[in-house]
Amino acid sequence: MSCSVELTNLSFKRLDREIFSGINLQVGHKEKIAIIGPNGCGKTSLLECVAGLEKIDGGEIRLFHKHMASMEDYEPIRVKIGYLLQDADNHFLCPIVEDDIAFSLLAAGVDRSEAQERTLAMMRELDIENLRGKVVYHLSGGEKKLAALAGVLIKEPSLLLLDEPTNALDYAYQLRLAEILAKLDKSVIIVSHNQEFIERVVDKIYTLSSGGLTLAANLRLEILHSHGDLPPHTHPHSHLS
Ligand SMILES: Nc1ncnc2c1ncn2[C@@H]1O[C@H](COP(=O)(O)OP(=O)(O)O)[C@@H](O)[C@H]1O
Ligand SMILES: [Mg+2]
Repeated sequence: MSCSVELTNLSFKRLDREIFSGINLQVGHKEKIAIIGPNGCGKTSLLECVAGLEKIDGGEIRLFHKHMASMEDYEPIRVKIGYLLQDADNHFLCPIVEDDIAFSLLAAGVDRSEAQERTLAMMRELDIENLRGKVVYHLSGGEKKLAALAGVLIKEPSLLLLDEPTNALDYAYQLRLAEILAKLDKSVIIVSHNQEFIERVVDKIYTLSSGGLTLAANLRLEILHSHGDLPPHTHPHSHLS
């Protein structure tokens, strides 16, 4: 399997306190997975380590087949990683929504008219054109989440790390977001408590606990089998647990 993310025996401490250890995970090219687990079990910390925002204490992170041995190894692949932070407030660099979404394109040298066109297209896709001229700090929690997500998706990353993407989103937006994410042709890791949402989007669900990451459900598992007089066949959607 061609993998976008390979984690081997990862461990991570904060102030000498072990947050997680023995983490093994493979996320295939364009595979979508979710990580669930109780508050404080280390889900956000794990995403921060994968994104290179925190330094692991042991084990190995490989992204797009390259060993991330130091923070410098992240530099060439940083543009491929889109990270939606748990707290959307930490995303904003410009006071006006449209400018903020366009910011990374302009910083990458995309010309102003193309950046504006792509920004409007992204806002249309997420159905947030009405937020265009608003001040980011006046937005509701759900609106902030969507504006931050637009700023992440517009960079067209190959790997998306989404921390609690449905927090503060109403049900209609959750459905819309699930639909958008499900059809994205990218590798995706979602941390979420929202079971219905993740089941609409991901292929596999893992549980994070002190024992590491364990596969809780494989939602796209196809097992070749036969029963009765039927020839060998598969069913597209079965659960392990
Ligand atoms: N920046 C930080 N400094 C110190 N402790 C932190 C920091 N971020 C998280 N923690 C602690 O690390 C543990 C794991 O937190 P976190 O990864 O946010 O868990 P989760 O996302 O699963 O709720 C928690 O006990 C939390 O209080
Ligand atoms: Mg968290």
